[in-house]
Amino acid sequence: MRGERAVLGLSLVFVVFLFVLLLFARSAYGVDLPGCLTDVEPYTKGAIEQIAANRYQLRYVAKMWTFDPPEVRVPAGAEVDLYLVTQDVVHGLQIPGTNVNLMAVPGAIAYTKVKFTRPGTYYVRCHEFCGAGHQFMEARIIVEETSPGANQ
Ligand code: CUA
Repeated sequence: MRGERAVLGLSLVFVVFLFVLLLFARSAYGVDLPGCLTDVEPYTKGAIEQIAANRYQLRYVAKMWTFDPPEVRVPAGAEVDLYLVTQDVVHGLQIPGTNVNLMAVPGAIAYTKVKFTRPGTYYVRCHEFCGAGHQFMEARIIVEETSPGANQ
C-alpha cells in the first residue's frame, strides 16, 4: 500500500517535471510544437512566396508520391512559414538537419516555422508509410549563400 503510493507520487512528480521541461524548451530555445491551422484558406497547389525581407511562405502539397513544389530556393537566413496539406492519404514531412516534422492529414493544414541559417541542400522527406512509392517521396530546399553582388 505504502509502496503503491510512493510509485504513484513519483510518477506524478515525473509528469510535472516533463511539463516544466516542455515550457522551458519553449521559452529558452523557442521550440514550438507543430500546429494545425483552421484560419488558413485551403489550397491545392504548392507554391513559395516571399512575403517580407527574408521571410517566405512555403506551401507544400503531398500526394502519392511527391511533394509539390519539388524544389525551391531561399537565401541563407530565410525564415519560412511552412504549410502542408495532402490530397490523398496520410503523409509525413521531415527535414533532416532542422526541427521540421509534420503530419499531413486529409482535411487539415499543418504548419510550422523554420529558419535556414546554414547554406546547403535540405531534403524534404516523407516519414509516414504511404504506399509503394513512399521511399522515393522527396523534395529539396536549396539554401543559397548570400553574398553581396550575387545574382538573384
Ligand atoms: Cu508519403 Cu510516405
